[in-house]
Amino acid sequence: MEIRYALEKDLDYLLANDHHVRASVVRAKVECAEIIVLTKDDNPIGWLRYGYFWDVFPFMNMLFLEEEYRGQGWGSRLIQFWEQEMIAQGHDTVMTSSLSNERAQHLYRRLGYRDCGGMRWPEDTALEIIFLKKLRTED
Ligand SMILES: CC(C)(COP(=O)(O)OP(=O)(O)OC[C@H]1O[C@@H](n2cnc3c(N)ncnc32)[C@H](O)[C@@H]1OP(=O)(O)O)[C@@H](O)C(=O)NCCC(=O)NCCS
Repeated sequence: MEIRYALEKDLDYLLANDHHVRASVVRAKVECAEIIVLTKDDNPIGWLRYGYFWDVFPFMNMLFLEEEYRGQGWGSRLIQFWEQEMIAQGHDTVMTSSLSNERAQHLYRRLGYRDCGGMRWPEDTALEIIFLKKLRTED
């Protein structure tokens, strides 16, 4: 198993599996290193896709693992890899979100993410909880 930035060779997998954003967005994000993949024998079996809130704070938009690899710590390792990369790029804060009826919220809290707000969109759905994590304290 390996965790690395997605490469052009991973595009077929990502385009076939990540239906939440347009294909052009997936391509652009591979180009600018905003997708990280978990691979087995160099074949992707999951990914983390991120962007920037306010164009400033790294925001994890999507985390997904093929079902048979869940619950073994790989999701946590993907997040930790991303956080280390963000520290290396000079960031001190990262963010993500989760619906209040989604199980992943517990994983985020366990990894040190703190609830910092929420929104309902559309209005009559479950609360989307916004999470924030300080990666290091100010100098
Ligand atoms: C969320 C996900 C990436 C976590 O990866 P993972 O390798 O299973 O996570 P880890 O083994 O590191 O940690 C386990 C925790 O992940 C979460 N988790 C485990 N299986 C999950 C599942 N099927 N769906 C959602 N979250 C899950 C739980 O919080 C779990 O802790 P818990 O058992 O104490 O509740 C993975 O389970 C998954 O792809 N789920 C479906 C997609 C999803 O819900 N993505 C998050 C929202 S974008």
